[in-house]
Amino acid sequence: LGREIVYRDQVASTNELATELAYQGASEGTLVVADQQTGGRGRRGRAWFSPPGKGVWMSLILRPKLSPAYASQLTLVAAIALSRAFSSLTGQQAGIKWPNDIFFGSKKCCGILTEMHADHDRIHHIVLGIGINVNMESSEFPEELRDIAVSLRIVKGESLVRSKVIQSVLTYLEPLYQQYVREGGFSSLREEWKLESITIGRNVRAVTPRGEIEGTAVDIDEAGALCVMTESGEIVRIHSAEILFN
Ligand code: BTN
Repeated sequence: LGREIVYRDQVASTNELATELAYQGASEGTLVVADQQTGGRGRRGRAWFSPPGKGVWMSLILRPKLSPAYASQLTLVAAIALSRAFSSLTGQQAGIKWPNDIFFGSKKCCGILTEMHADHDRIHHIVLGIGINVNMESSEFPEELRDIAVSLRIVKGESLVRSKVIQSVLTYLEPLYQQYVREGGFSSLREEWKLESITIGRNVRAVTPRGEIEGTAVDIDEAGALCVMTESGEIVRIHSAEILFN
């Protein structure tokens, strides 16, 4: 991973540039990094705050030979690597909020946006977009993010070199990604995921396309679905949702 690197001072979105490069034939593991994004994208159509000089805005082009059904599981695999990298870089415990956020305590420092492009029943490529708040001070976040966002710098108490952050993330991700490709999905990494999770055991409200489910997050299944036990004792498997901690 990251043997080819495309760097830009400014792009609309590294995910967009990576998608273009992927269709032009960029090789497996190509890393696209920008100092600043003018149209950084988050999940569910939201904007991603991506100022210059302060963060790691990056996208990896990956070409696992798997069926499209496994693409979303890559988010979970990347989350394990990110959580480990951040704990090691800061000396504080990071954790995964299912499916795609990395937190310190109750604040988010990183989000993942995985976009899959398929060709018939095969993955053509996946763009794994990662946004890491590295060197912002609290006051540098927009007002609406101040209570919910954090940077590695705030957690560690000193600034970090962004290239070192990228290096650490790729070092943790490489073996996990290889295992995901080799084993054909996330299932063999389930226990490792649980070690990094801050979601299991929590009372949650899951906002899904088909309505809301409240209960306790009790497990993650082989496919990466979050298992929530409702008040009636029923276990509901959630494949896609916005999770709110109760
Ligand atoms: C989220 O938590 O909503 C996901 C945020 C993902 C942000 C990253 S920054 C690099 C890449 N390019 C984008 O436009 N988005 C992702």
